[in-house]
Amino acid sequence: MAITDTLGSTDIIALAKKFLTGNYTRYPVALVRGEGSWVWDAEGNRYLDFFPGWGCGILGHCPPKVVQAVQEQVATLIHVPNTWYTEAQALLGQALSERSDFGGQSFFCNSGTEANEAAIKLARLNGKPKGRYKIITFTGGFHGRTMGSLTATAQPKYHAGVEPMLPGFNYAPFGNLDAVAKLIDNETAAIMLEPIQGEGGINLPPAGFIEGLRALCDQHGLLLIFDEVQTGMGRTGKWYAHQHWGVLPDIVTLAKALAGGVAMGGLMAKPEIAEKLKPGTHAATFGGNPLAARAALATIETIEEEGLLERAVQIGEKFHERFTALKAKCPLILDVRVKGCMIGVELAMEGAPAVQACLEKGLLINCTHNTTIRLLPAMNLADEQIDEGCDIIDSVLMGMKA
Ligand SMILES: Cc1ncc(COP(=O)(O)O)c(C=O)c1O
Repeated sequence: MAITDTLGSTDIIALAKKFLTGNYTRYPVALVRGEGSWVWDAEGNRYLDFFPGWGCGILGHCPPKVVQAVQEQVATLIHVPNTWYTEAQALLGQALSERSDFGGQSFFCNSGTEANEAAIKLARLNGKPKGRYKIITFTGGFHGRTMGSLTATAQPKYHAGVEPMLPGFNYAPFGNLDAVAKLIDNETAAIMLEPIQGEGGINLPPAGFIEGLRALCDQHGLLLIFDEVQTGMGRTGKWYAHQHWGVLPDIVTLAKALAGGVAMGGLMAKPEIAEKLKPGTHAATFGGNPLAARAALATIETIEEEGLLERAVQIGEKFHERFTALKAKCPLILDVRVKGCMIGVELAMEGAPAVQACLEKGLLINCTHNTTIRLLPAMNLADEQIDEGCDIIDSVLMGMKA
């Protein structure tokens, strides 16, 4: 059926309410077009997007090289299953591995939750001969919505109503090495975490935590799994956020920005762990299809050609400067947490009214954990756009009372 381009937001919303499930809290705006950090709604209103694609739009909307690669590929070969080889998938495995420090080998799927399911299975496959299957994860973490990743997500509010959860997951407070050490037993297979918690509110690990987890894993023969679904692909100024701490993982998971906005997920594992994924142990029909793989290659190429790892650091510094200055005059701001293009501003009040007020002024932002304003801007955001959006946030927060 053709897209008419004639429906207004009201008609689109009415159709969606009738025919789509109601599991999303949506704003009453229907978006039709995007370019860089700008998006337009069905009425032609323009918005500045500081949260493009929930972290998938690491190059903003419709990045030209990704568009070109997808357009070429869609007319050449859209999808073939993994019973065949494709150049794009092989080259993507190489590109991700060469940017890692541990010679990772890749498995591809379509989303973050799927990438983490694969990591959980790989940890169990690896631990099985020694009777190890338990995985330690962290409070405030987020790993996805399918049952394995959801059980790994140590947040009771997401478990409510769908219990019982999977056996074999233990939760430790994020940042507490002693608590982790106490949870390890002979059945523990792995420790899994986001190096910087995203959905949990942009929580940076305390000094020594990531290194301490590696030491515990080495001491007890456990796998260290970094969920880099949100932090990966250069968002924090390094290809993989764990590289900030010089710690080598056993498994890394990726999704969101991996293919510049096209659906794709994956994991990379050390070769001696990856080899446990033997034929028949795991699969994804669409995983690593040529369309997504070409988009991912074009994303990597753009990040490198445009020097965006360095730009992500500059963007983080500019946001940090702006929000630290705002905090000094705005008692509503309790804390500012920034690592490259991951920005959290913790408020002394619910963040939803601020998100709504920004939307009304043409700025798209997010609030997570009720009180933290979260921004995951594109790595090619311009200084003027940062100023324009921060001016809006300044005026909104200065006009609010706790
Ligand atoms: C760190 C992390 N892991 C996993 C996921 C799940 O990804 P997806 O929604 O693509 O399944 C998310 C999504 O927000 C995430 O932030």
